[in-house]
Amino acid sequence: MRIYYLSLSHLLLLLFVGGCVKATHVLDCGSVSPSTVVMIEDCDEPPCIISRPDNKDVNITFVAANDATDFETNIKATIGGVEFPWPGPGGCTLLVGDTICPLVSGVSYEYRAAMPVLSEYPTVEAVVRWELMDNLGNLQVCFLLPVIIT
Ligand SMILES: *[C@@H]1O[C@H](CO)[C@@H](O)[C@H](O)[C@H]1NC(C)=O
Repeated sequence: MRIYYLSLSHLLLLLFVGGCVKATHVLDCGSVSPSTVVMIEDCDEPPCIISRPDNKDVNITFVAANDATDFETNIKATIGGVEFPWPGPGGCTLLVGDTICPLVSGVSYEYRAAMPVLSEYPTVEAVVRWELMDNLGNLQVCFLLPVIIT
């Protein structure tokens, strides 16, 4: 009789494929982080359909590609081909779990932000560009997320 051993990484892969971890399928736009997982509340497959008003969790797990003391969130929304800046919710203060700044190369960080969709927003289709840029100007994380605001 053979005994098969499951390594931790196999187990994580099984959990992931099995759907216990619901990552959102976002389009990467040049993350330098070697590993990022984005989880948007109630949206596994973009476009995310959001009914105003609402507030969606944006959870990101990423591995820092380099040391950095600080980072910030930059958000841009492209609507009808025109890019609009969106207020960013901050950076280091959004790290959760036991992860804190500074960023250390190779270490995994957990980030949690909210994406407020206010009732005064128009009903539009937009592509949201979400960047975590460190103080050295490196895009640790960058992804594009099509949304439909209804
Ligand atoms: C985001 O992370 C928080 C814990 O930090 C968790 O309570 C919440 O369910 C997560 N949301 C999603 C969409 O994964």
